[in-house]
Amino acid sequence: MLKRTVLLSFLFAVTASYGQSARNNAMDQYINALMQKMTLEEKIGQLNLLIPGGSPTTGSVVSSNVEAKIKQGNVGGLFGVIGADKIRQAQDIAVKQSRLKIPLIFGSDVIHGHKTTFPIPLGLSCSWDTALIRRTATIAAREGAADGLSWAFSPMVDIARDPRWGRIAEGAGEDAFLGSQVARAMVLGYQGNDLRNPSSLMACVKHFALYGAAEAGRDYNTVDMSRVRMYNEYLPPYKAAVEAGTGSVMSSFNTIDQIPATGNKWLLTDLLRKEWGFNGFVVSDYTSLNEMGSHGMGDLATISALALNAGLDMDMVGEGFLTTLKKSLQEGKVTQQAIDQACRRILEAKYKLGLFSDPYRGISASRAAEILTPENRMAAREAAAHSFVLLKNENQLLPLKKSGTIAVIGPLADSKRNMLGTWSVSGDWQQSVSVIEGIRTVVGNKATILYAKGANISDDRNFVRRVNMLGMEVDTTEKRSADEMLNEAVQVAQEADVVIAAVGEAADMSGESASRAMINIPESQQNLLKAIAKTGKKIVLVLFNGRPLTLNWEAQNIPAILDVWFGGTEAGNAIADVVFGNYNPSGKLTATFPYSVGQIPVYYNHLNTGRPFAVGDWPKFKSDYLDIPNEPLYPFGYGLSYTNFTYSKPALDRTSIGANDKLRVSVNVTNSGNYDGEETVQLYTRQMVGSIARPVKELKGFQKIWLRKGESREVVFTLSVNDLKFYNKDLHWVYEPGEFKVFVGTDSGHTGEAGFTVTK
Ligand code: NOJ
Repeated sequence: MLKRTVLLSFLFAVTASYGQSARNNAMDQYINALMQKMTLEEKIGQLNLLIPGGSPTTGSVVSSNVEAKIKQGNVGGLFGVIGADKIRQAQDIAVKQSRLKIPLIFGSDVIHGHKTTFPIPLGLSCSWDTALIRRTATIAAREGAADGLSWAFSPMVDIARDPRWGRIAEGAGEDAFLGSQVARAMVLGYQGNDLRNPSSLMACVKHFALYGAAEAGRDYNTVDMSRVRMYNEYLPPYKAAVEAGTGSVMSSFNTIDQIPATGNKWLLTDLLRKEWGFNGFVVSDYTSLNEMGSHGMGDLATISALALNAGLDMDMVGEGFLTTLKKSLQEGKVTQQAIDQACRRILEAKYKLGLFSDPYRGISASRAAEILTPENRMAAREAAAHSFVLLKNENQLLPLKKSGTIAVIGPLADSKRNMLGTWSVSGDWQQSVSVIEGIRTVVGNKATILYAKGANISDDRNFVRRVNMLGMEVDTTEKRSADEMLNEAVQVAQEADVVIAAVGEAADMSGESASRAMINIPESQQNLLKAIAKTGKKIVLVLFNGRPLTLNWEAQNIPAILDVWFGGTEAGNAIADVVFGNYNPSGKLTATFPYSVGQIPVYYNHLNTGRPFAVGDWPKFKSDYLDIPNEPLYPFGYGLSYTNFTYSKPALDRTSIGANDKLRVSVNVTNSGNYDGEETVQLYTRQMVGSIARPVKELKGFQKIWLRKGESREVVFTLSVNDLKFYNKDLHWVYEPGEFKVFVGTDSGHTGEAGFTVTK
């Protein structure tokens, strides 16, 4: 029987790889034949990605004469075209009116859902639930494809350790191990098994590379780091996305080794293609090719040639390729082979998506029914509830009872507009559920709900004007003064048994071009919290944020804090589900909350210094601050539950392992509190001695378990030397014999530990 299974799976593997190579042969033949018919201009046209305008953009340039350019074969793809009808019309022009009828590829920023909007990626990553994350990407792909799209500009996998950087909202936080798993889940979710399936989207991992390490957290700023750091701490998620089969990669805005990523041959060719074996296509970011001019790399012709020669295949919006490559070929600055190669890669992507057999990928009026379905909204509600992180819960204030009088206060309590979060380009905020709506739905008539706005999101006019660039997220129509709003809120609080304060950032206070130097709750809302706190009423702070915030006053003075990020379409319902105990929160932070901006960058997997500082110690000449602690406010992996989980010390089945051994690490986890609940059990290791300095802790495994109240479970991890590998100073992927520690616990700051040895 066993033999038969082995034989069958062998045959299957052979046939599958035969099927794959037959398909590749058919693709090669098709594309060879097509390219023979193409003129130089038509080949260059495939490298041109345009945005027709009329939709939100992320740069100051928009494309002109798009229709004429499509007819002339000067366009390979479009983005920012919203809705199946418009996409059909544009595709009609390409496949009916251009000479070779080559279909366009249609991209979009499907970042956290399409129409059904899921939590911002940073929030979603706090679920530590890769199956759930994958499911959200599958739903986003199905909706996007039903709406005519073929290509998602996602996942964004930039490791970010600087919460001032607004785009920390779009990624999975600070850890490369977790980030890699999220990257993989999202690529598989978008692409499925076969891109010809008209419910899939081609993924585009971005921003390659290291964009999250912009100096000072200022967007688009310089990045500079050692190769060892890149390989060990920043590159793994991109690599994981490539290994999961992402069809495309987007180059980033920043420089690496003082060469912009978009024109960096080491990055786009040596690393991406030669070392990692990537065989899809590379698209620039929005005018990042042209921006190489500002980086001081030369005029448009020079930088376009530089980018093509570096390995860039498609130019987003800038039209540097379109307008200069022909002349550069004549002048010998680029080769025909380089143009052909880029063109081939774009055509291959279109082939893999089935666009040559059905340029419309099955779009039809009836597929509108696949969008924003009740099932998709249910998935969004579930995903949101799983993304929330309970930061504080003094005296078990949460969950609240559905009874008595509850005051819901704050500028984010009745704001559908701010539920979706940053860059939900296709999401319709009017479809979202606000906090107050969610509470009314979940509580029904069991309690009296009062409401007061209490404050504006911010009273700083200049700041508000900039935040509101993409729409009025910070309401500027309020006629009442700050005092009038505050007084009303205090009065409402006084009438209530408990206050739910919905405060924090507006949706676009994080995201692209939304760096903040001060990452606190805006002053207007802090004043509100302080005024309510003075009434003596218990406050549950429901915190909206696209980044870790500094929350010292709140952490000291407010009894319960639930971080809800931006939960998406179903945010309000999910918030009410958690606040009133229908779901016991289980999210864990994937980015450290600093104690103060002055600590940034502060992250759990740092190196030791030569003068480490231990808590309780206070001598001079140690690595610390005179005025603040070294410890962050909330560490990586942190998040409470309504119940308690107690851990045994980790037990090892052996004290040493060699190259072929497995180490069994187990802990007993007990739900010792009063509610059923979910816990993410986290395993970290530390290499005590190495050929290079090694981090004080590195995440190597995690498991999500569900335990009934009173239940205990043994949680087992298996480690081998492969889990202990890292890139050494020569960038070889090695493990090194010696002493190790293993830590298991509820977050990176609270773990039990044991030691083991790795032998030669
Ligand atoms: C710029 C952003 O950096 C990128 O993430 C996005 O995909 C493009 N604009 C297209 O909107």
